[in-house]
Amino acid sequence: MDACSIAVVGATGAVGRVFLDILEERNFPAKDIRLCASKRSVGKKLKVKGQEIAVEEATPELFSQVDVVFISASGDVSRALAPVAVQQGAFVIDDSSVFRMDTDVALVVPEVNASDLESHLLKGHRAIVSIPNCSTTPLVMVLKPLMDVNPVVRVIVDTYQSVSGTGAAAIEELRMQSEQVLEGSSVKPSAYPHQIAFNTLPHIEPFLENGYTNEEMKMVNETRKILHDSSLAVSATCVRVPVMVGHSEAIHIEFAGPISPADVREILSSFPGISVLDDPGANVYPMPVDAAGKDDVFVGRIRQDVSHPNGIAMWVVSDNLRKGAATNAIQIAEEVLRRDLLKSAVR
Ligand SMILES: NC(=O)c1ccc[n+]([C@@H]2O[C@H](COP(=O)([O-])OP(=O)(O)OC[C@H]3O[C@@H](n4cnc5c(N)ncnc54)[C@H](OP(=O)(O)O)[C@@H]3O)[C@@H](O)[C@H]2O)c1
Repeated sequence: MDACSIAVVGATGAVGRVFLDILEERNFPAKDIRLCASKRSVGKKLKVKGQEIAVEEATPELFSQVDVVFISASGDVSRALAPVAVQQGAFVIDDSSVFRMDTDVALVVPEVNASDLESHLLKGHRAIVSIPNCSTTPLVMVLKPLMDVNPVVRVIVDTYQSVSGTGAAAIEELRMQSEQVLEGSSVKPSAYPHQIAFNTLPHIEPFLENGYTNEEMKMVNETRKILHDSSLAVSATCVRVPVMVGHSEAIHIEFAGPISPADVREILSSFPGISVLDDPGANVYPMPVDAAGKDDVFVGRIRQDVSHPNGIAMWVVSDNLRKGAATNAIQIAEEVLRRDLLKSAVR
C-alpha cells in the first residue's frame, strides 16, 4: 500500500480519539497526519503514532494538502466540509449519516461489500464513502455470510446501545449522573430527554411519522443498501442503555429454508471480523465489557427461534467506537489503497 497524507476532522471526539489509536495499532500508512476539530480545540496537542500533533482548523487550504479526509464530527459539519474537501481534491470517508443513502455515495463495511468501492469510485461517483450507523454494521456483518447460504426473509432486531454512541458529552453525562444518583442528588438530563443513569431509553434520535425513530429507520434502510436487497423486511427497536462502550443487539432472523444453530455457528465462525462466543452452559456469551476495545463483532446465544421453523435468534455485541465507526473507516481507507482506487476516486 502506498502511503497517503490524511486529515482527521473531529480528532478530539469520542470516535476521533479511538481513530488515532487505531491508526497506530494498524500501522496505517499515513505519511502526514493533520488533526482538526472545532475552533475551541485549535492548538490542543494530541498524541498520534508517538508524535504530538496540534489541532488545526479545517480549512479548504488544509484539505488541498491531503489525500484522504476522515470526517467524524456531526452531520452538520460533514454536510458543510465534505463537499469542500472533495472540491480541493481529497477523498472523504465520512462517519455521519448525511450521505449514507445518496445513490452516488458508497456505504461500506469492507468484509461485506468492499466491491461497492470499485463500482462507485470507478464509475466516477462522488469521492465520498460513508460508514454505516454503529448498529447497522454488526447487523450486516452477521446477515451477509448467512444470506449467502440461505436467503433471509425477515429480520427483527432490538438494540441496547451505549452512551458513547452519542459522543463524548454523553459519556461524561452517564458518569456524572451515576455519581449523582448514588449520592442521592437530583440529576439534570442534557444529552438525552431523560435520566440515562440506572435507566433505559427506548428513544434514539427523533421520532418519525411511522412511529419508528430515525435511528431505527437508518438500520432498515442502510441494511437494505449494503446488502443490495431493497425489499428485505427489517424491523428495529433501538434502546439507549447505561453502558459506556459497546452496542448489543438481539437479532431474530427468518430464513427461506431451515438452518441449524450448528450451521450458523460454523458459518459465522469462518467469517472475517466475527468471533463466536457461544457456550451458555459455561456462562460464555458476548458482553459490552468484553467487546469494548476490540475490533471483532461478537456473536453468541445462537439458537433455534421457537416461534418459527426457519428462524434463528442470536445476541451480538460490538464496540461502536471501533467496528461501529473508527475501525470500519480505516478499513475502508486500507481497501481503497489496496485496490489502488484513490486516483480514480478524486479524478
Ligand atoms: N460515537 C459512535 O459510536 C459513532 C458511531 C458511528 C458514527 N458516528 C458518527 O461520528 C461522528 C462523531 O461522533 P462522536 O461520537 O465522536 O462525537 P463527539 O464525541 O461529540 O465528537 C465530535 C467531534 O467533532 C468536532 N467538531 C465539532 N464541531 C466542529 C467543527 N465545526 N469543525 C470541525 N470539528 C468539529 C469536535 O471538536 P471539539 O472537541 O473541539 O468540540 C469533536 O472532535 C458523528 O457524525 C457520529 O454520528 C459515531
